[in-house]
Amino acid sequence: MKTMAVEELQVLKEKNPLLAIDAIVQRHNADPGSAIPILQDIQNTFGYVAPEVLQRVSELSGILESELYSIVTFYSQFRMEPIGENLIQVCHGTACHLAGAERVSEAIMHETGAKDGGTSPDGKFTLEKVACLGCCSLAPVITVNEETYGRVAPNEVGKVLKEINGQTEDKKAGCKGGCHHE
Ligand code: FES
Repeated sequence: MKTMAVEELQVLKEKNPLLAIDAIVQRHNADPGSAIPILQDIQNTFGYVAPEVLQRVSELSGILESELYSIVTFYSQFRMEPIGENLIQVCHGTACHLAGAERVSEAIMHETGAKDGGTSPDGKFTLEKVACLGCCSLAPVITVNEETYGRVAPNEVGKVLKEINGQTEDKKAGCKGGCHHE
């Protein structure tokens, strides 16, 4: 059976999520060493790795379900619940940590009701802690939907989130040229 391209997996997911899981495992030839690539493909296709799919992956690949579960919970790149409308990443690298990243995270949790690593009750915001984003001179740094905001003060978080709420398009901009800062 030929392996499926990412786009084909997306189409298959809409039609039949279970078949998409099967195709992903097949893509990696059910090799026990492919646990991480399989889980990455699942997250790329579905946006997260639902705990329920681990059993299916285990049956098809022969990889122990407990091993899959350990990987998903150990590596911060994996999410076990759907992402909210907006993804906020707060850098907790050294420079940002020293510049008050913890207080920024707390302010975001307070504003949105999302727990660290979780999604707000209204489904609008998912909050994640990440390692250095490469804009240390702008610490503390957050990204919202891949757009970068630098020198974020905890008391400015509400303003930033309001702005984000109003604009969901135009999500491009990395650290180069896309940073929002005073
Ligand atoms: S430590 Fe936050 S951008 Fe480098």
